[in-house]
Amino acid sequence: MRNLAFKAGTLARVCSRQQLPSVHASGAAVQQIQQKKNASSFDNPFRETQTTKIPSFDKYRNSGGESSAKVFQYFMVGTMGAVTALGAKNTVQDFLVNMSASADVLAMAKVELDLSAIPEGKNVIIKWRGKPIFVRHRTEDEIKEADETKWESLRDPQPDSDRVKKPEWLIMLGVCTHLGCVPIGEAGDFGGWFCPCHGSHYDISGRIRKGPAPLNLEIPEYDFPEEGTVVIG
Ligand code: FES
Repeated sequence: MRNLAFKAGTLARVCSRQQLPSVHASGAAVQQIQQKKNASSFDNPFRETQTTKIPSFDKYRNSGGESSAKVFQYFMVGTMGAVTALGAKNTVQDFLVNMSASADVLAMAKVELDLSAIPEGKNVIIKWRGKPIFVRHRTEDEIKEADETKWESLRDPQPDSDRVKKPEWLIMLGVCTHLGCVPIGEAGDFGGWFCPCHGSHYDISGRIRKGPAPLNLEIPEYDFPEEGTVVIG
């Protein structure tokens, strides 16, 4: 009996010794799996220390939404367009001002004449823009004659009233409409002007009555700014 008990104890010790490696083997497998798990996950070395600091831009954000941003964009586009248009307008205006005639040239373009110095029935010739201007102080008879002429049948039909602003003052360009000679006053068959170059006769209204000239003597721009004064040009 005592021998049997000894054998049983021996057998138990042997079994326990044989099972121990398997227990040890299962513990090693668990460790290997845990190591694999740890090895598969990324271990950030900078996890504890944050090296990049991103600033906050909250105060720069538009809190008004999309509509307020569009209003601002439209305002900027409109303002820039207006400024550009104003600059272009000033540039073109400066260019045109530089290209236009200066004040002294404009002054030369107009001539003022004192009519009180011209007696009735007399001619005066003045120079305007390099051309002669005839100024005739017509008499009552000359006005009547010019007015009663049958102008409809003339070569260049024109009533006397269309050629004067005041009947007593006849103001014309002293250039023959044929080839540009200067006619002679108080001469010719019609008591007006005569061009000796090719024999053109103008009446007391400056209308062509005879000769090769095709048109009446030209009437320039003029005005009477005050009584007794005429400004030509
Ligand atoms: S230029 Fe006066 S008639 Fe010829």
